[in-house]
Amino acid sequence: MWSSSAVARNTAVLLTISLLQLARGISIVKSGVSNYSFPDDFIFGVGTAAFQIEGGWNEGGKGENMWDTKLHSEPTITVDHSNGDVSADSYHHYMDDIEMIKKLGVQAYRMSISWTRILPNGTDNNINQEGVKYYRTIFEELLKANITPVVTLYHWDMPTPFIALGGWINAKVIDYFEDYARVAFRLYGDLVKMWLTINEPNENCKNTYEYYKLPAAVKLQGVEIYICTHNSLRAHARVYRMYEKEFKPDQQGKVSIVLESAWPEPNDPNKPEDVEASENYLQMQIGMFAHPIFSEEGDYPRVVREKINNMSRLQGFARSRLPYFTDEEVTALRGSADFFALNHYSSMTVSPLKEDYYWKDLSYYNDTGVHIQVDPFWTRSAAFWQYIYPPGFRKLINWLQNNYKILREIPIFITENGYIDLGGTEDYERVDYYNDYLYQLPLAIHEDGCNVKGYFAWSLMDHFEWRDGYTIKFGLYSVDFNSPNRTRTPKLSAYNYANIVRTRRIDFDYIKRPENLNTTTSKLAK
Ligand code: BGC
Repeated sequence: MWSSSAVARNTAVLLTISLLQLARGISIVKSGVSNYSFPDDFIFGVGTAAFQIEGGWNEGGKGENMWDTKLHSEPTITVDHSNGDVSADSYHHYMDDIEMIKKLGVQAYRMSISWTRILPNGTDNNINQEGVKYYRTIFEELLKANITPVVTLYHWDMPTPFIALGGWINAKVIDYFEDYARVAFRLYGDLVKMWLTINEPNENCKNTYEYYKLPAAVKLQGVEIYICTHNSLRAHARVYRMYEKEFKPDQQGKVSIVLESAWPEPNDPNKPEDVEASENYLQMQIGMFAHPIFSEEGDYPRVVREKINNMSRLQGFARSRLPYFTDEEVTALRGSADFFALNHYSSMTVSPLKEDYYWKDLSYYNDTGVHIQVDPFWTRSAAFWQYIYPPGFRKLINWLQNNYKILREIPIFITENGYIDLGGTEDYERVDYYNDYLYQLPLAIHEDGCNVKGYFAWSLMDHFEWRDGYTIKFGLYSVDFNSPNRTRTPKLSAYNYANIVRTRRIDFDYIKRPENLNTTTSKLAK
């Protein structure tokens, strides 16, 4: 039994928490149609990535990539011991995919090219014509349907031959990436006018070299991650400048890189150290990549440079674990994007790391120096890492807009945002997530003056979710992974998204949740 003083203490805690909640901008959702609409030139889209949906791993002359190879030799990498051999089988069902996209009524489709489907060894001396034709047909069919293809060159599927070289930690891979990009621009640049070089280099470097030690890692914690960061940025600049010189004058396309961040809410917004922890998190997570490209002065953010230099010094290194760009590289990187491509899924609360001597262990986490928690009032999706706090989306966009002046001239596109559940077509929680998160965009646009011009829901359909295999789902369309032709069925969230796209407003009542439905997601604020 609780003593009465414990109850009093508890009430006080709850009161403090709910005041904090108010400060964080959460309220209970209403119904009806949103007051704001999406501007006429706002682009709605939906996204996927080759390895996550394509399958056909050894068909049509495709070479192996690091995921094919690793999952065949070490199936325990995925929680369900699955792989991407067939996945949603878009290699054979791409016309079904295009029909699904048409039904959503969106104007754009973000997809990726599998590097080894067009260059089986990763190198440009051997071009696979069957693979070339596969993507060309998709782009042509999309354009026939008035859907703009937005194409990612690298969505984490490193050609297997480069694993032995260390993947992104070997600077030679920059040359190979440039060669591959040149082939793609030459082959498809007449059809594709929006290119994304690398998807989330921050997550790619963290997951490959720091957290999960994926195939290319040689296991130097706190070191490889920054070599990967550095080379990814150099590779992006190389490809951007190559396109600018060799293709842009004729093709008139736009090129960017996809960056990602959760929103780090200061644990106590009244504590300067928590506010500083939030800033540190952002600079290490997204500023490390965005500052060299989007800031006026270029290069890594000062706070990132100082942090990693200091930690390296304390740890006895004669040189920083964060490499330095040459002056030419700083110049090539600065301004190397025609729009900002942002992925966002989740929020967290942050405060400074307090453990003594945490600097003794080499790691990105320790370099960041931020302790990550979550707000007890936020609900979680089916993924351990996804906490729902829609205002965090707006705050992140504002942070970017305030940090990088160039975003007054070039637009922000949200290239991924979506909700994770365990499957099924009656996905009321996903409907809520999209309503609540999408609602933040008109607020950011109309009330804060942010230059957001487009949004891609992630994902078009259920897919292979990296180490989670097929255990968690993201799709607007469900895929029956047990049926031979991978039957696709629209979920409630697909109807809801199509309605938002059609009306350019959010109707919070469009999908009525049955009264007695017991779900975990609370309704969050508009
Ligand atoms: C990746 C996607 C992935 C999603 C959810 C993003 O980091 O680009 O491939 O499905 O997150 O984990």
